[in-house]
Amino acid sequence: MNITKRVSKPRVLISEQDLQRRVTELAKEIDSDYADTTRLVAIGVLKGSVFFMVDLLKQVHVPVQVDFFQTSSYGEGTSPGEVRIRKDIDLSIRGADVLLIEDIVDTGFTLRTILDLLRFRGARSVKLCALLDKVSRRQVEVPIDYRGFEIDDHFVIGYGLDLADYYRNLPYIGIYEGDT
Ligand code: IMP
Repeated sequence: MNITKRVSKPRVLISEQDLQRRVTELAKEIDSDYADTTRLVAIGVLKGSVFFMVDLLKQVHVPVQVDFFQTSSYGEGTSPGEVRIRKDIDLSIRGADVLLIEDIVDTGFTLRTILDLLRFRGARSVKLCALLDKVSRRQVEVPIDYRGFEIDDHFVIGYGLDLADYYRNLPYIGIYEGDT
């Protein structure tokens, strides 16, 4: 399968400039909300959150530890609601303020599972920062504390979001219009 040949240039949904502007706004909010934290741990969900997380955390100035989860990804034969943790975090989060960072909230199953797990492990607080919110697709409720953009129900790629691991390195969010 050669996906790269199917779509030469995806339609831009959110430009690089708009992404960077919003990332800066979110970082400012996070900095001010966590000004008095005694321990902040930012946890990204691999692999989609990486591009967003790097840009965001470079603009956060409160001391922050960084860790990652990896869950079973979209379209790999999992049934809805069944989320597998493939890579667990390495840090203990007991007593810490946890900021979970995700690329997109779709049905909400992935984040619901991770949020429950983080609370179970004794985090002092758990907040969610998601770049994109496909709100019309939601099946389980997930409170988003820091939301980049609400988007319609498109299959989007770029800025970390992939199709078969391609397109993550696009600097903008595009709409994939080929077959998925
Ligand atoms: P959820 O558990 O249904 O909320 O799915 C979240 C995960 O599905 C995200 O972290 C993405 O990996 C993937 N996903 C959902 N929508 C898209 C999309 O439009 N493009 C690429 N990946 C997506």
